[in-house]
Amino acid sequence: MSLRLTPDLEVFVLTGAGVSAESGVATFRDANGLWENHRVEEVATPEAFAADPRLVWRFYGQRRAQALTVAPNPAHRALAALEARLGERCFLCTQNVDGLHEAAGSVRVLHMHGELMKSRCSDPACPTAPFVDTRADLADQAELPRCACGALQRPHIVWFGEVPFEMHRIKRQVQRADVFLCVGSSGVVYPAAGLVGEMQYRRSMGERVRTIYVGLEAPANASQFDEVHTGKAGELLPGLLAA
Ligand code: APR
Repeated sequence: MSLRLTPDLEVFVLTGAGVSAESGVATFRDANGLWENHRVEEVATPEAFAADPRLVWRFYGQRRAQALTVAPNPAHRALAALEARLGERCFLCTQNVDGLHEAAGSVRVLHMHGELMKSRCSDPACPTAPFVDTRADLADQAELPRCACGALQRPHIVWFGEVPFEMHRIKRQVQRADVFLCVGSSGVVYPAAGLVGEMQYRRSMGERVRTIYVGLEAPANASQFDEVHTGKAGELLPGLLAA
């Protein structure tokens, strides 16, 4: 079966952890959301970094080390092929901090929750731009890395309690899309989980829109989708996105 996403349609794609699961990247809520007996929400917060930056760098160091060992799967490749077909009519917004969409060939990728392989200054007032940083052993160094301004460097990640990047641009893209395709996201983390609601609002205003979910199980916001296709993204997407 194909979703028949023809090149006259504007498609907004939102991906979550499920799209990278078959590459071997653990989804956030795997292992009951625990990392070394810490709740992930206790490690991935500004408060955690303020209290124990070394612990937080150890968590992200392990994630960086793991990310260096994984490769894109057929789901990433199917989405890259969709973009190759639709060009500027395809916009990919990911909640994932891995770089697997780009590794598969996607170009128009917005990382709303940041990027694992980047760091930045922890002082929001510092003008130093985020930079590529693959160092996985920072927690083992005698001194944690600091910006030239003196403040600690931090992972370029949107933590719990922080506002995702580029929400205005994301909303603009959703508002012009004919099709909203969400892949592998549990639909519990906002504002990402609320984006599909914009499509339903536009429908209530008389616009023709289509909303599709592809993932292992129905997400928490399943009622907002016209179609829910359950199964592994890497198995379903190549067929669903075939021209
Ligand atoms: N194919 C498709 N979907 C899958 C697969 C697979 N092979 N494996 C798991 N899934 C689905 C799960 O059923 C689940 O619904 O992917 C979803 C992953 O959910 P989460 O782990 O909650 O990930 P996500 O929705 O991306 O989380 C959003 O929350 O933890 C924060 O910032 C973090 O970006 C993350 C955000």
